[in-house]
Amino acid sequence: PTSARMEEACQDLVLSQAQIQEVFSSLLAQINLGLGRVTNQRATVKCFPTYVKELPNGHERGRFLALDLGGTNFRVLLIELDDGDFKMESRIFAVPHHIMTGSGKDLFDHIAECLSTFAHAQHIEHEVLPLGFTFSFPCSQHGLTEARLAQWTKGFSCSGVEGEDVVKLLEEAIQRRNDVQIKVCAVLNDTTGTLMSCAWKKHDTYVGLIIGTGTNACYVERLENVELWDGSWEEPKQVIVNTEWGAFGSKGELDHVLTEYDREIDQHSINPGRQVFEKMISGMYMGELVRLVLQRLTKKGLLFGGLGSEELAEKGSFYTKYVTEVESDAPGDYTNCRMVLEELGLDNATDEDCENVRYVCELTVLSSDVARAAFLVGTGLAVLLNKMNRPSVTVGVDGSVYRYHPHVHRLMCEQINQLINPGIQFELMLSEDGSGRGAALVAAVASRTNS
Ligand code: BG6
Ligand code: GLC
Repeated sequence: PTSARMEEACQDLVLSQAQIQEVFSSLLAQINLGLGRVTNQRATVKCFPTYVKELPNGHERGRFLALDLGGTNFRVLLIELDDGDFKMESRIFAVPHHIMTGSGKDLFDHIAECLSTFAHAQHIEHEVLPLGFTFSFPCSQHGLTEARLAQWTKGFSCSGVEGEDVVKLLEEAIQRRNDVQIKVCAVLNDTTGTLMSCAWKKHDTYVGLIIGTGTNACYVERLENVELWDGSWEEPKQVIVNTEWGAFGSKGELDHVLTEYDREIDQHSINPGRQVFEKMISGMYMGELVRLVLQRLTKKGLLFGGLGSEELAEKGSFYTKYVTEVESDAPGDYTNCRMVLEELGLDNATDEDCENVRYVCELTVLSSDVARAAFLVGTGLAVLLNKMNRPSVTVGVDGSVYRYHPHVHRLMCEQINQLINPGIQFELMLSEDGSGRGAALVAAVASRTNS
């Protein structure tokens, strides 16, 4: 059992019902501001219309290339859709840190090089294949094949890309090489890809959610509510809106729930003051959040005999996957926890230390009754479900935190159930094949609509 001193020291990580309610109302308010033509300017949640209006009907066909940039892995894929059947070849390529933070030209040259390597290995370099580009960053779109990067998130900071159309940058890089030919049919966010990929199997999928390196959600909104809409008014009168809710909080809306750890993470990040909601939730920051708490508890003498280790004191040393590992131990068993602590040079941890480390992971992250990240995401989903007010909705979900953490699914469901309108049924569905298939589907649906 956790000691009273320990509980007290972690109290600031516990969200009260009143705080949750406040998060709920102010997120809803920001989404409404984001959807408004005049108010969008001052909204922190930008609600970008995506130009994806049609959802798949399951009968899409064709061969497509897809690029998937912005999650843990950069992938190039070749996808074949055949009336409900689906084949996929894919390869993961590294995006080294110096490229993530270098020049835009180098980034797109790198992407083009990977695409060319893949196309040659697949012997498709002489075909002109339609391509769907999943680019998982906030973009304002002015059509299905134009996306201007609003700002980088998740540790990318390549120069010369913000404000530019990433499809054009990709096409230029491919032209510079001049050894493959593509036709970009769609550019989309990973949330859109996830929604589409799940909608292919379950036709009531109206939300796409990511809890991975970053967090974000998209949903299907009625056109009349999207004041920024400048596309076609033909049926269906709906469009997928990419909320970019990770940016929520950047005008102080979350100050009432921020802890000293959140502030420290923010200050040391590449984008201080931005993506505040994302920093409280997603995998890119979760391990560091836990490390900061452990450090402070150690300094207070509540952990590791007050001593800690050099490794624990080092920024970034507590990986997000450690959180999942620690929380995967059965109650009373500390096998994973001890392995993690040994990697951090904490070989002499007592059982009590292990219990307390697990408590911090649970509390900070996901799996106790007061688990922050899951509750915050659950709150966000409840906002969208109530706003859509459809009787039955499947939420397509992807991202390493959702996929690998043992309790996040249950906790999110609990939180959503606390807040949704009576009569709404929902289901959270893991997107099995990533957002690459979603990219192919957007491309396929686009060619169906345009033909
Ligand atoms: C992948 C999707 O499965 O999940 C990507 O194909 C997405 O498009 C990613 O960005 C998100 O998860 P993570 O944990 O890799 O950031
Ligand atoms: C970040 C990006 C967003 C993406 C999310 C999940 O929040 O800004 O576009 O969907 O991460 O990958």
